[in-house]
Amino acid sequence: MCGIFARIANEPVAPALIEGLRRLEYRGYDSAGIATIEQGGIERRCAVGKVDALEAVVRSGPPAGTVGIAHTRWATHGSPSERNAHPHIAPGLAIAHNGIIENHRELRHALSDRGARFRSETDSEVIPWLMHQHMAGGASAKDAMHRVGEELHGAFAIAAISENEPDVLRAYRRGSPLAVGFGKGGGVLASDPQALAGYASEAMILEDGDSAEITRDGVALFNRAGERVQRQTLAVDPSVFACDDNPYAHHMLREIHEQPDVIARILGQYRVPSDVLAMVPVDFRRVSRITLVACGTSYYAAALARRWFQEFARVPAEVAIASEFRYEAFAPPLPGELAIVISQSGETADTIGAMEVMRARGIPVIALVNQIGSTIAREADGTIPLLAGPEIGVASTKAFSAQLTVLAMLALAAGQRRNQPGIGQFHARLQKLGDMVTAALHNEPAVIAVAERIHNAHSMIYVGRGSLFPVAMEGALKLKEISYIHAEGFAAGELKHGPIALVDPQTPIVALVASGSLFEKSASNVREIAARNGRIVLVGDRASLLSLSDVSTHSLTVPQGCELLQPIVSTVPLQLLAYHVARLRGLDVDRPRNLAKSVTVE
Ligand code: M6R
Repeated sequence: MCGIFARIANEPVAPALIEGLRRLEYRGYDSAGIATIEQGGIERRCAVGKVDALEAVVRSGPPAGTVGIAHTRWATHGSPSERNAHPHIAPGLAIAHNGIIENHRELRHALSDRGARFRSETDSEVIPWLMHQHMAGGASAKDAMHRVGEELHGAFAIAAISENEPDVLRAYRRGSPLAVGFGKGGGVLASDPQALAGYASEAMILEDGDSAEITRDGVALFNRAGERVQRQTLAVDPSVFACDDNPYAHHMLREIHEQPDVIARILGQYRVPSDVLAMVPVDFRRVSRITLVACGTSYYAAALARRWFQEFARVPAEVAIASEFRYEAFAPPLPGELAIVISQSGETADTIGAMEVMRARGIPVIALVNQIGSTIAREADGTIPLLAGPEIGVASTKAFSAQLTVLAMLALAAGQRRNQPGIGQFHARLQKLGDMVTAALHNEPAVIAVAERIHNAHSMIYVGRGSLFPVAMEGALKLKEISYIHAEGFAAGELKHGPIALVDPQTPIVALVASGSLFEKSASNVREIAARNGRIVLVGDRASLLSLSDVSTHSLTVPQGCELLQPIVSTVPLQLLAYHVARLRGLDVDRPRNLAKSVTVE
């Protein structure tokens, strides 16, 4: 995680650095800092917390430098504090770093023995001292950067400025994303290619081992051997970070309400199931097993889709948490195995690692990714764009419903290729999804009323059966990440095997139910909770709520759907509930503590 931004121009760069950090704040907001070169020396400003705090510091003493680097931090080594804030400095040098230096301890000892004076607890601070040591030994800044890149273990992207060359920005990449661009006003680099918007129309994506040299005249890229190279370019979409008026109090709320539009966009783009197949080089008739891999909310989308691939395409499917999967021992792959990785950001380090494991085993990997141009989108064998548009709130909402809509389409497409019956009927039902989500959103006043009753809870439980189990897990994740209330999602039938001991009148239990084949089983589980004085918030269609009205303390109605639609529709009140509980607790909904939107470290 962490975000790097840097700029070289003909005017003071501090305003651009602050704006760049705002665009990257989704990557972390424990501290922020900038460094520029001014009258031949390095000027540094930093602040604990969000970019707003840094902006106040910069405003009270704006640096005038026209070359500068900037960083927004998600703490890994050392607490969020001013001394651990980037940029880090050695004599004549400043660097900003994203990633983790795994051998920082050894390097720190060796550098200390040679006179380095470390000020921070970070792994990153070895970088400027290593560069300084090489430059003091006569190496050029470019050579020093490459040597440092070779000495470091781990994944990292670095931006650097040096008093020796006050008109140059340097960067290096291994494992962490980095894009550079050039436009009329000068050069720019950032962790996210779209953050170059307004400064460059194209982003050049550095590959592992590449360095960049950016001056006011242009950009030069060099490979690991130091040779000049050209790299893939991406168009920068100027609208992604364009200022617009958000009529909602928070990005998260807007993104929840955007879901019908996102679904309409997806169903407009992928009109028939075979449209999604056109994006990926897979013949589902030959697929013998699918492994879906992802993290967090994307993992819950995968867990749901696993059921759909089995139900609609009759292909064995399993799901794995990327951070666990990448270090598992595996039996030899079967012929016809397929991996599907799912990621909003396309930069999640654990998911990238799992994808690499799959590819090393010779298994084709297709990706569902929202951020086109991201590492996963570029490196998968085929990518299906999620079309959710930029998701700014750290808690994922519209990306989840986009993932589920695209996965539903893909499962139906797989079923069609495998000549399974009834696919057309399910595809027709999918067309109603947008209207059903709209109807679920109209019930927001009821959700607010429940939030007002429960927002002081210390702990909450979410339960669901079948396809509502992953939804329960997702509901609990949403609540805990933005409201800081402890919450757990359980399979409703599993409660009696242990978690039911947690049931008491103070712990709200959100029970997901739906008319259909599993209703009676779910109803029994709800009654088991009621018999133990549980405080039940029932979420379900009208008929199922009616038959459990004697045991629910609160109820939230959603439209009735089928196996495919119900879980997506039932997610909406859980998103709204998490949002309103966090709002009532007075918390920073879009930037919850300790989190970052894009998790680019292990
Ligand atoms: O960008 P990705 O979809 O790969 O991210 C995966 C998780 O980090 C992400 O879903 C996270 O759990 C969200 N904060 C959930 O709201």
